[in-house]
Amino acid sequence: MADDSQNRDTMTPRHVGIIMDGNGRWAAARHKPRGFGHKAGVDAVRKAVRAASELGISHLTLYAFSSENWSRPQREVRDLLGLMKLFITRDLAELCANGVRIRIIGSRTDLSPDILGLMETAEFRSRDNSVLNLNIAFNYGGRDEIRRAFARLAAEFAQKGRDPGTITEADICGALDTGGQPDPDLLIRTSGEMRLSNFMLWQSAYSELVFLPCMWPDFDKSWMEQAIEEYASRTRRFGGVEDAKDIAL
Ligand code: FPP
Repeated sequence: MADDSQNRDTMTPRHVGIIMDGNGRWAAARHKPRGFGHKAGVDAVRKAVRAASELGISHLTLYAFSSENWSRPQREVRDLLGLMKLFITRDLAELCANGVRIRIIGSRTDLSPDILGLMETAEFRSRDNSVLNLNIAFNYGGRDEIRRAFARLAAEFAQKGRDPGTITEADICGALDTGGQPDPDLLIRTSGEMRLSNFMLWQSAYSELVFLPCMWPDFDKSWMEQAIEEYASRTRRFGGVEDAKDIAL
């Protein structure tokens, strides 16, 4: 998506994506089951959403459940699905009151009707809110998102008789689950691991990556501020040069 960063406060990222990692290790350090860490992770989700609004971030994407997470032990999958349902059920009214618009990104194929219904309710009831756009990545994989976007475009091009050779980057951006939203300026991963794990692969082409040492349940506003401070210290060039005037001389 086109960047308009010259026209705004470039110190504050407009869109922040977070890979919430470390719930299991946080629980293990306390001799508790992994589910205990995920439950504490939901409290950190609430802190992250509040911090994003307070800090003037307009888009926040949280990686809650990847398309690969189904391979975890059945009990853990059940815990994570349960927490997702509980979060929507319990927090939707407050999120709406605080102007949060919720979108769930990821594949909806094969999800159970109860979780699908909750997702649709959350999106519908929050659709007019605009303080913070919250994307929850659920049953999400970056490659799968790109595959689904291509399938959508292929069908549309075939239907309209358009030449596939004319496909543009904007067409692809628009067909992604995040269509119409800005690319993430800042991607944060907690727990010290340094990889993208199939998160927002297309959209992160020029994102600044910040890896925090804290485990996700310990994340709070001060960690968000620390990540933003690191982001603000970076020089973003988008493949160009820092100061074109100097180079031209
Ligand atoms: C990674 O930590 C975290 C997850 C796979 C799940 C994240 C889910 C939540 C924070 C709770 C539910 C979210 C919402 C939005 C309601 P890990 O389990 O891989 O930790 P480890 O690497 O230490 O084992």
